Amino acid sequence: MALKETFGNLKRMLQGPRVQSSNHKAIVVAVTAQKGGVGKTTTAVHLAAGLAQFHKRKVLLVDMDAQGHVGMSLSSLLTTQPNESLGNILLQKHRDIQELATETSLENLWVIPSDKSLNDAEAQLASRIGKEFSLKQKIDIARTHYDVILIDCPPNIGTLTLNALTAADYVLVPCDMSILSLDGVTSLLETTQTVREVLNPDLKWLGVVRTRLDRRNVKLNRTIVDALREQYGEQLFNTEIGSASAIVRAQLAGKTVYAFDPKSRATRSYRVLTDEFAQRLGLLASKS
Ligand SMILES: Nc1ncnc2c1ncn2[C@@H]1O[C@H](COP(=O)(O)OP(=O)(O)O)[C@@H](O)[C@H]1O
Ligand SMILES: [Mg+2]
Repeated sequence: MALKETFGNLKRMLQGPRVQSSNHKAIVVAVTAQKGGVGKTTTAVHLAAGLAQFHKRKVLLVDMDAQGHVGMSLSSLLTTQPNESLGNILLQKHRDIQELATETSLENLWVIPSDKSLNDAEAQLASRIGKEFSLKQKIDIARTHYDVILIDCPPNIGTLTLNALTAADYVLVPCDMSILSLDGVTSLLETTQTVREVLNPDLKWLGVVRTRLDRRNVKLNRTIVDALREQYGEQLFNTEIGSASAIVRAQLAGKTVYAFDPKSRATRSYRVLTDEFAQRLGLLASKS
């Protein structure tokens, strides 16, 4: 091992994680969909920030999409940038993702931003045996620092998404109200079943969230909701997220919609969704 690397490892060991360890045992949720643009990142960001802000839960939001949209969406909350990349950490066995956990100006919320290095990491992982477990080892260590860890996934079922599904306890699927998304949800359910059989027997479905709903398309919405209800029953979240310009404007400003426009309908919807999410995770009953 090169001297510089040895010193780097020593320094990291001495510094320890930035978040104090505690008796937490985080629940890990992967936010996944095969399609881009369905609201994965927006939903992951607002559930993470919502749990931190309104439920006072310690939350880590991990961006597993090389496009780095989590960091962009929360740019005004990120006070520092990690000086190492998630791609590098994933490729090295004895590195800890806590090194990357970046404090935000929102109490209780930490973020692991991503960058293009994740694409290289995915390519390099491809030839490794057990490549789907690279993230799991690291998430399992991070669990002791948080109540909830949310993982925002890329828009395909590649190695990075499989890593997220292998590391997670639950899958949450945002679905914009299009026929293509509906089809994507079905095949994701099949993928989850395969992951459960082969990689992660503990993986469970948390449910499907309707996003970017255009409330003017009453008939189409009803058709899609009926199809979703018939197929997923209870697993369909009651709360729906309407299409809202406040969300887009908040994202441009690098803020959550809660901070950008607290009185907007989008704020209300994501707050109610956060409550439903917390309830489904069993977080409403007690705060240990
Ligand atoms: N409820 C919504 N209303 C309006 N625009 C939205 C909504 N949710 C997401 N968007 C916009 O749609 C685009 C895709 O959303 P995003 O969350 O990044 O999807 P994904 O992560 O699935 O690719 C973004 O530009 C975002 O601002
Ligand atoms: Mg995204």
